[in-house]
Amino acid sequence: MPTKNYSVTMSNPVIPFYQPSDKLLVCSKDCYQYDTEGKRYLDFDSGVWCTNLGHSNDRIIRVISDQVMFSIHQGYRFRNKAAEQLSLELLDILGMTGGQSVFLSSGSEAVNLAITLAKRFTGRTKMLKMELSYLSAFGHGQIADSNTDLLTVPMNNQEALMAIDFAQIAAFVFEPGTSFGMVHFPSGEFIGEIVRKCRDNSVLLVADEVTCGFGRTGKWFGFQHYNFIPDMVVTGKALGNGYPVSAVSITAEMAKLFEQNPFRYAQSHQNDPLGCAIGLEVIHTIQDEDLILKANETGEYFRNKLEQLQIKYPEKVKDIRSRGMMLALELLPEINGELINNELFEQGFIVGFRNNVLRFMPPLNLQQKDIDLMIDSLDSLLTA
Ligand SMILES: Cc1ncc(COP(=O)(O)O)c(C=O)c1O
Repeated sequence: MPTKNYSVTMSNPVIPFYQPSDKLLVCSKDCYQYDTEGKRYLDFDSGVWCTNLGHSNDRIIRVISDQVMFSIHQGYRFRNKAAEQLSLELLDILGMTGGQSVFLSSGSEAVNLAITLAKRFTGRTKMLKMELSYLSAFGHGQIADSNTDLLTVPMNNQEALMAIDFAQIAAFVFEPGTSFGMVHFPSGEFIGEIVRKCRDNSVLLVADEVTCGFGRTGKWFGFQHYNFIPDMVVTGKALGNGYPVSAVSITAEMAKLFEQNPFRYAQSHQNDPLGCAIGLEVIHTIQDEDLILKANETGEYFRNKLEQLQIKYPEKVKDIRSRGMMLALELLPEINGELINNELFEQGFIVGFRNNVLRFMPPLNLQQKDIDLMIDSLDSLLTA
């Protein structure tokens, strides 16, 4: 296990905006993370749903080593080949050939920029999202009482949809499957209806693919489970496989609108060549290693295993939800899920947990034997 030495003190000098676990991790490699004692944890959360290729993937290490020799950062005033090539290839897999992209660092920045574009293109201020969706840590997409421009519709609720005045909305920001919301997917019928209303009322469609993108749901992008092409797509997280790079991609039609009504937007790390070189390697690795197919096959195997637990423990397991390698097992309210999740961690498995739901979003190249290990532990914890 390779490690790096830092002088760490007992008290934590990092601001605890988020309640951190006491566990100090020192190495992350492939599907595993390691603590200071060398104990290994199978990471079913891919960090924060970022490492679709596994932590410190060898191809990503190589492309970082190569790219840093030429350029990490050069300033957004200059064109660079990595950004232009990534934009072309990203637009191709999005089905938006002929459009344009810009590259930033985090998903939140990209969501905010897409919303800014939507507001300018439509002259409207309201946005619509589905309940349970998470869009941004700050700004236009932040879930906050003060953000009165962000309207919410409950998922799959046609009646609530009827009450919304689409004529005042700039864009529907669509998260095709929610990680923060513990793995829920909207029905094709519901999304079909929203898309129809958006198109009838000149409301733009923005797909937030920050967590569903790059094979997570068994297709390149989560919106591809539905029958439409968005006007804009936001990507992040897995685009950099753990390195902070995000993107806003727009169709050729939106690019024309921007040309007619341009505005200045600049961030220090906009279109940085290092992030873009990594993004390209992520796309090529998914292609070369057939990881979309693999996500479907392994996801089906995983779902089967979870369903067997549901059959075995009907008095404990309430629901199984999944699409590709985005899975959840919901426990009945009377079961102490927190205890089960803590025990899983003690036994070496990092699993997402909230509202009595165990969430699994592991690297797409996870092996079946690793799923078996976690399922065996979960089985014995459910027996107890
Ligand atoms: C769907 C979705 N969009 C946007 C974001 C924001 O991305 P970031 O945390 O990189 O700013 C997240 C983060 O979890 C997310 O899940």
